Amino acid sequence: MTLCIRNAAQLVTVAQSGERVKRGAALRNAGVIENGALVIEGERITWVGRTSELPGLPRDAQVLDATGKVVLPGFIDSHTHLIFAGLRVDEFEQRLLGRTYQEIAAGGGGIQATVRLVRQATRHELKQLARRRLGRFLEFGVTTVEIKSGYGLSVADEIKSLEVIAELNAEGPLELVPTFLGAHAVPAEFRNDREGYLHLLLDEMLPEVARRGLAEFCDVFCETGVFSLQESRRILRRASELGLRPKLHADELTPLGGAELAAELRAVSADHLLCVSEAGISALAEAGVVATLLPGTAFFLGLAYAPARKLIDGGAVVALASDCNPGTCPTENLPLIGAMACAQMKMLPAETITALTLHAAAALGRADRLGSLEPGKQADVIMCDIPDYRLLFYHFGVNHVERVVKRGRVVHVAGAGTAAGAIGCGEG
Ligand code: NIG
Ligand code: FE
Repeated sequence: MTLCIRNAAQLVTVAQSGERVKRGAALRNAGVIENGALVIEGERITWVGRTSELPGLPRDAQVLDATGKVVLPGFIDSHTHLIFAGLRVDEFEQRLLGRTYQEIAAGGGGIQATVRLVRQATRHELKQLARRRLGRFLEFGVTTVEIKSGYGLSVADEIKSLEVIAELNAEGPLELVPTFLGAHAVPAEFRNDREGYLHLLLDEMLPEVARRGLAEFCDVFCETGVFSLQESRRILRRASELGLRPKLHADELTPLGGAELAAELRAVSADHLLCVSEAGISALAEAGVVATLLPGTAFFLGLAYAPARKLIDGGAVVALASDCNPGTCPTENLPLIGAMACAQMKMLPAETITALTLHAAAALGRADRLGSLEPGKQADVIMCDIPDYRLLFYHFGVNHVERVVKRGRVVHVAGAGTAAGAIGCGEG
C-alpha cells in the first residue's frame, strides 16, 4: 500500500543525511522543505522532496493533500510515568499553600500515595486508565511513548505494571517502550530496611524483569533522600549486566551529581537536570548521554527550569519529554511542553522540534528508525493545521494536530472521534 502526502506548506524533515543526533548550528536548521511531499510504502518512508519532483505513484495510492499545513515526524515522548491510578490534586493545592514536594513526600504523600492506589488497582483498571491517557497523547501527535513502572514497588506490582505496558503496546497504535523503575522510592514497608529493598531490587525484581523481557531500560530516581549515587550505581550496573540499558532521574530537585554518574555509566539518557552542575553538563556532552529535559515539571512545581541553553551550547544532545505523572506533571500535551521549552528555556523552535523527535528517539535508542522524515525511516508522520512549524509553540496550549500516521497508517483524524473520548473528567 502506498500513501503520499503532498503540497505541504512545510515538510519538516528534522534530518536529511542519516544523522542520529544534531549539534551546534545544525540544530537551528529543522530541514524544512517548502511545498514538500513524501511517499510511504507499507510502514516505511520511501521518498521525500518537493511536490513538483514527486515520482509517479501506483494507481491505487492513497493521496493526502497538505496545502497550507505543516508535516513533521510524529512526536516521541521519551519519559513518562503513565501507569498510575488516582490523582494527587490535594497535593497540588498543598503546594500552592507553601508545602514543598519533598515535605509532602516525607509525610507519606507523593510517590507512596500513588503506590498504595496502584497496588489496589487491577490490571484491567490500570490498562483502562493508561489507554485513555495514550488516546490523548495520540491526539497531540505523539506516536511513541516511553513508560516507566515504579508505582508498584513489589515484585508482583512492578510486573503487573510492566505487563500492562506490554499489552497496551500489542494493542497499538502507539508504540510503547517499557522502562523498569523499581528504584523510584523505597516503599513504606521497607522504611527501616533499605538494604532489604535493595536486595529485592537487585536479586529478585531485576532478574525477573530481565528474564521475562518486560523492560528495555532501567531507571533510578537518584535524589537526596531517595536513592544515593552509590545505590544508583549499584542498581544500574546490575541492570546493565542483565541487559537493561541505564537511564537516570538526575539532579532533579537537588544537585547531587546524577549527570556525572549518568556519564560514568554511559547511560542512554540523564533526565530532569534542573540542578545540573557545569561539570555535569560537560560530562553529558562528552559521553554523548542524551540530556532529557522535562520543563512541565519545573512549571508545575514552580521551580527554576533546566539550563537548556547551557546544555545545547555546551554540546549536549537535548531531548524534551513530558514526565507525565500524577505528582509533578499531569499532562499529555507534549506540544505545550515544547512551548515551555521555547518561552522559558530559550530553545528555538527548530531545536525544540528536534528535541521532541530525533533526540527523543536517541533517548530511546531508536534514532536509526524513528524521529525524522527520511527514506528508510518508519512512517510516523503528523500533519498540523498551521502553515509554519514555529506556530506549534507560538500559538500555544491549543492542539494543531489534524492527522496522525503511525507505521504508514492513518490512525487519527482530529474531530473524527478518538480512543481518548472525553477529556478531563473522571480519573485522569
Ligand atoms: O519524574 N522524580 C521522580 N518521579 C516523578 C515524580 C513521581 C511522583 O511524584 O509521583 C518525576 O518527577
Ligand atoms: Fe520522571
